[in-house]
Amino acid sequence: MQSITVKAPGRINLIGEHTDYNNGFVLPAAIQMAATATITKRADDEIHLTAIDLDDTLIIDSLANLRVSEKQWANYMIGVIVQFVKKQKFPTGFDISLTSNLPIGAGLSSSAAIESAIAFGLNELFAFGIDKMELTYMAQKAEHDFAGVQCGIMDQFASMFGKKDHVILLDCQSMEYQYFPLNLKAYQIILFDTGIKHALASSEYNTRRKECEHGIQLIKEKHPKVISLRDVTLQMLNECISEHNHPSVYNRCKYVIEEIERTQAAAQDLKQDNLKSFGEKMFNTHQGLSKLYEVSCPELDILVEAALENENVIGARMMGGGFGGCTINIIRDDNIAEIINNIRNQYQLKTGKELVHYIVSVEQGAQVI
Ligand code: GLA
Repeated sequence: MQSITVKAPGRINLIGEHTDYNNGFVLPAAIQMAATATITKRADDEIHLTAIDLDDTLIIDSLANLRVSEKQWANYMIGVIVQFVKKQKFPTGFDISLTSNLPIGAGLSSSAAIESAIAFGLNELFAFGIDKMELTYMAQKAEHDFAGVQCGIMDQFASMFGKKDHVILLDCQSMEYQYFPLNLKAYQIILFDTGIKHALASSEYNTRRKECEHGIQLIKEKHPKVISLRDVTLQMLNECISEHNHPSVYNRCKYVIEEIERTQAAAQDLKQDNLKSFGEKMFNTHQGLSKLYEVSCPELDILVEAALENENVIGARMMGGGFGGCTINIIRDDNIAEIINNIRNQYQLKTGKELVHYIVSVEQGAQVI
């Protein structure tokens, strides 16, 4: 095989936010918007990376010369290629042409989609035989080392393992996962995009991780066997961390402990077809993300507030890392245009901003096309 075209999707996450790097549960699904890459073997050792949407190309003269580029878009690809070089020998160089219809900075994992597409595509084209879980970790490592975000595993996992019309309950401690058919009946999943791309998002993300680790250190003083917040109950938290001495560490840990619990209960709701109870948990998650974890922003809160006031929206919350991006909403099917219009008008009135929305369909993960 000389050339291959692959596609890897972005993701939604129904519930389980900021739990992946705390060994908790997440409930993501792959969506219709995706990154598509054509990878072609070359006769020499060069690598030519092209971002079709930006009309920009980076030429790397040898596989021995892979380093962080000034072109940010290229780093997601180089980061993955470096992971391969650590494990495998490429027999030739290659060209990659990439295009994506995922909005950037909207919390739909546009970067994980690129990383997953490159990891999946290089593995197929060069028949390296690396399994999908390993490819997922390689894509995550690219984000850590080349984008500087100490992300968890959820985004790359969902992009790689997504299944049409199913959500995935992933246990981020054991990495065991189960597919659940997404049976929304009279409802649809709609994303409302605040249009806010917060510049502090990645540094704040890394700070949240550190705060959780700090919490673990404090809890370990009394409970040395604890490894992550997965092992901690609210009672242990209250015994070990004073709300007054360490208010933010306390709040971050409280949110995560509650969210890990809530995600498992929400998965049960889904199994029992109880969408109403599921939706209530989404609102509770938002409350926690906004007040305890402090990763929301006024625009996200306005959208969730508008959803709460609308009886046709049975669940809504901010989605992904936070500080901007989208809310995820479960909305009754009939009169959907009117409901969207109503929320758009409220958003415009309160923020002066245009509201963009996406109707989600749940699709297959990384694949050859
Ligand atoms: C980002 C990260 C994920 C996850 C979410 C929050 O999308 O990439 O690993 O931590 O934020 O749930």
